[in-house]
Amino acid sequence: MILWHGRLEEKPEAEAFAFQASIETDQRLALEDLRGSRAHAAMLGKQGILPPDTAARLDRELAGLEEELKQGTLVIDRKAEDIHSFIEGIITERLGDPGRMVHAGRSRNDQVVLDFRLYLKRAVPELQTELVQTITALLDQAEQHAETLMPGYTHLQRAQPVTLGHHLTAWAAALDRDVGRFSDALVRLDECPLGSGALAGSGLPLDRDAAAQSLGFRGPTLNAMDSVADRDFALELAGAAAVAMTHLSRFCEDVVIWASEEFQFIRIAERWSTGSSIMPQKKNPDFAELIRGKAARTSGNLMTLLMLLKGLPYAYAKDLQEDKEALFDSLDTLRSCARMFRGMMKSAEFNKERMEACCTGGFLEATDAADYLVRKGTPFRKAHEIAAQVVRDCIAAGERSIRERSLEKLRARSDQFEPDIYDALSPMACVCARNLPGGPAPEEVRRQIKVLRDRLVSGFSQRSL
Ligand code: ARG
Repeated sequence: MILWHGRLEEKPEAEAFAFQASIETDQRLALEDLRGSRAHAAMLGKQGILPPDTAARLDRELAGLEEELKQGTLVIDRKAEDIHSFIEGIITERLGDPGRMVHAGRSRNDQVVLDFRLYLKRAVPELQTELVQTITALLDQAEQHAETLMPGYTHLQRAQPVTLGHHLTAWAAALDRDVGRFSDALVRLDECPLGSGALAGSGLPLDRDAAAQSLGFRGPTLNAMDSVADRDFALELAGAAAVAMTHLSRFCEDVVIWASEEFQFIRIAERWSTGSSIMPQKKNPDFAELIRGKAARTSGNLMTLLMLLKGLPYAYAKDLQEDKEALFDSLDTLRSCARMFRGMMKSAEFNKERMEACCTGGFLEATDAADYLVRKGTPFRKAHEIAAQVVRDCIAAGERSIRERSLEKLRARSDQFEPDIYDALSPMACVCARNLPGGPAPEEVRRQIKVLRDRLVSGFSQRSL
């Protein structure tokens, strides 16, 4: 059914019609379109715009279609223009005039934003649940490895000893913010555009508050023109998805590095690896690489939406039809990547011996040697200089760690070095000394894990700005 043929004598050719159609993308709004139409028809009935029995018939028919959709028996006609015209077409075909009455006081411009918002109110919390489960999987591993030593890096150079628990909790903290970003966007999205019409509302006595309430929105949107022109919610969600995917891409980059023969920190399970078609020995971290690569899509989708809106005159223009494909792809991509990353991390094994061994060599204890001197009263800048000199002494003598140097030689650089320096500079002692809030000390990491777990339990849907 074409909703606009009254004005035009000519019809577009098939290829042109298909070009401007959006059913392939917006068919996933079918349930929301039915729900929105039910709420609109019920409101029209209450307001006396439709006779009560017409409203009731429409409601029965739309409810029946909802059921058919859930059962999978509703066949969506891919030749229709969009989901809105398809559904109006079906009810018109089945009911005749009542079907022709449902669009009173409504435009596809407010209808499509309504459907889009309703869909996101359903889909985004599902996506957040995937992220929460991914955070939980990371925290489970972090807990297991609260005492597993590993080198921490800056500039991809060994910096200071930390624990694997500290590193994995860092990832979890980033994903926790992602969950929050989605919640923040949902707060602003939670307004109902129905009743905004094409751009200028309606002269019919619609009850926008009632429609908003029946659909579970906080209230109606403020301004009809803004309602049909605004896609901030899509931008914000695409932004949140791009940030979350950027996080996953960084985690996956770490995983790829850790899985290399040079590092050998992680053993990715075989079922989360792939082989090579030519090199028989290969076990490749393809899943991690692909997640890293897919972050390109979500950044691209965000750019698509920004460009779509840039300079677009008020209010609606057909350009906006491109919004859904971009956002759906971002949300789908993040969902599948979160699931794949979770599976890969849950089954990953870590090479504790190797990671601990890498805490020696590279002088990761140098900062702690400086701190040791500071504790004994040396000014920090002086202590830094002495520790650096000691490192150079060690390198010149072929020693791999400050702990390999004799006390006598250490004391030649500072008489504040005492026998306790050797215990103080063991990787575990260095880590345990860093027990400030946020630090890598095992007890402190366990506290961070608990804070994150408590946040997840308290429920992400309640979070707001
Ligand atoms: N399929 C359209 C979209 O997704 C629905 C709105 C069409 N409105 C219009 N005035 N042509 O944006």
